[in-house]
Amino acid sequence: MNSLIELVNKKLDEYVQIIYPEEIFKSMKYTLMLPGKRLRPVMCLEIVRMLGGDIEVALPTACAIEMLHVQSLIHDDLPCMDNDDFRRGKPSNHKVFGEANAVLAGDALLTFAPQLIIEKTKGKLPDEIILKLVHEYTKFAGAYALIAGQVVDIESECGKLVRSAEETLDFIHMNKTAALFRLPIRCGAIIAGKIDLVEELDEFAKKFGLAFQIYDDIMDEISTFEELGKTIGKDKNSGKLTYVSLYGLEEAKNKFGLLINDCYDIVNKYHSNVFKNILDKLRERILGV
Ligand code: IPE
Ligand code: IPE
Ligand code: MG
Ligand code: MG
Ligand code: MG
Repeated sequence: MNSLIELVNKKLDEYVQIIYPEEIFKSMKYTLMLPGKRLRPVMCLEIVRMLGGDIEVALPTACAIEMLHVQSLIHDDLPCMDNDDFRRGKPSNHKVFGEANAVLAGDALLTFAPQLIIEKTKGKLPDEIILKLVHEYTKFAGAYALIAGQVVDIESECGKLVRSAEETLDFIHMNKTAALFRLPIRCGAIIAGKIDLVEELDEFAKKFGLAFQIYDDIMDEISTFEELGKTIGKDKNSGKLTYVSLYGLEEAKNKFGLLINDCYDIVNKYHSNVFKNILDKLRERILGV
């Protein structure tokens, strides 16, 4: 696990060079290089390893997905969105570089990511596989997934509900969060050349993504700034629709428990220590076992 994180950190640092105009590259690199958990790129690389593919070939895609994730965090923290002053234990991007640069840094990461996949994977995988990877990227980054989730998340703050609260909440979590776990897992299988396993692994990714956002919702309620590196209690204060606000803390924990237990199928089937590690940590923190 740690060696995969180190590999991702090294490559992220290498891929984003600070050139003129320096402010934008500094802003992109600032949130990118802060110590995130790197779950999404690590999962992508682990899927590739599990399925017998080449991790080196997968690194540009894994890092591109972390860039997309970081873009979502930079924009999510903006005053017009969640208005969060801290991210990854440090002041949010717009607090350091200003709002205009934070918007632009997000845009820059969002667009640099597929550029990276194409440029750094060219010649190492067949063109039609690269096309598939970029297609997956654009599908999950855009208005049919991540952006849709964020839109409905923000709408929920003012109590605007077009569907039932339960359906709305599932829509938000599947789109704003599960999408960014489906992407690395699907891309991992594609890079390893195991197209036939994409849909099966996608089922795991959806469950994990949902469990992960419930975990995040619970942590917003029970954790500390020191542990999470972001402001706590924000969801409640802004009236967000979350598993905790809709079902209560205990029921949210139950739902998390059921989903996370199902996720262990992947560990048993593929004997993955990396996935076991990730699942154990989340489970232990919420359920204490
Ligand atoms: C935060 O994701 C956003 C959510 C989907 C809840 P992470 O908790 O993976 O954030 P980092 O990458 O570790 O900072
Ligand atoms: C997570 O939503 C999804 C995205 C950032 C796209 P949150 O708003 O709950 O994430 P945190 O809690 O700010 O990390
Ligand atoms: Mg948000
Ligand atoms: Mg937020
Ligand atoms: Mg949150």
